[in-house]
Amino acid sequence: MIRFENVSKDFIVNDKKTRVINHITLSIEKKEIYGLVGQTGSGKSTILRLMNGFIEPDDGDIYLMDEKLDEKTKHRLVKDTSMIFQSFNLLGNLNVIENVLLPSKIRKENKKDNIRKAQKLLSFVGLSNLEQSYIRNLSGGEKQRVAIARTLMTNPKLIFCDEPTSALDEKTSYEILKLLKDINEKFETTIVVVSHDISVIKALCNRVAIIERGKVADIISLKTKDLRPISYKEALLSD
Ligand SMILES: Nc1ncnc2c1ncn2[C@@H]1O[C@H](COP(=O)(O)OP(=O)(O)OP(=O)(O)O)[C@@H](O)[C@H]1O
Ligand SMILES: [Mg+2]
Repeated sequence: MIRFENVSKDFIVNDKKTRVINHITLSIEKKEIYGLVGQTGSGKSTILRLMNGFIEPDDGDIYLMDEKLDEKTKHRLVKDTSMIFQSFNLLGNLNVIENVLLPSKIRKENKKDNIRKAQKLLSFVGLSNLEQSYIRNLSGGEKQRVAIARTLMTNPKLIFCDEPTSALDEKTSYEILKLLKDINEKFETTIVVVSHDISVIKALCNRVAIIERGKVADIISLKTKDLRPISYKEALLSD
């Protein structure tokens, strides 16, 4: 689904060209939930931005869905991907359903079908009752659910998540992770999750690359777990 072959990326840091991603080779299979974990500044978000075509490598090749990502293919390939952020990236002056409808508006698709689809997705993420609410009145967890519903509007084959639960409390985080897992199972979506939180990665991922100073230090396979939201009491009493 995604392949990096010897990918490197340089940035200018303090007027000096610095190699931020250093010869990374990795391969992510269809339907995997793949984690990228590592210290702050190790290059995780940069890897995601390379994967979604936002920036280009200085060296090496990136393949999305078995096609090489380049100037010619980028626009078409990136249409099958979507991104979820720590900060939700919603428009505060629009209500919930208007936010969910944004991608289809940009793509100028049939309006009536889309309203029905947006309503269905809001029901899937558990927000049917908040369709007309304004974003500023929602909790963090609700905002991330809106962002996830919006992501699903374009039927992405690939979802990239950059620290999707870092702004949320533990219980809400679990609920969002469960939702991502449900999406992976129901829609067979491949998901790449960046986090510096090991518990998030352990709860969600099948495979994890440990990133250290722009390199893959290790790749670990994890046993998949049944995810369920835990109560505060359980969390407090667990080891
Ligand atoms: N556009 C840019 N220009 C210059 N340097 C950049 C740019 N983007 C990232 N960097 C640098 O590249 C390195 C890797 O950054 P990146 O954001 O990928 O790290 P990260 O692993 O996502 O960190 P965090 O966990 O803090 O989000 C950092 O040293 C950062 O300062
Ligand atoms: Mg980052």
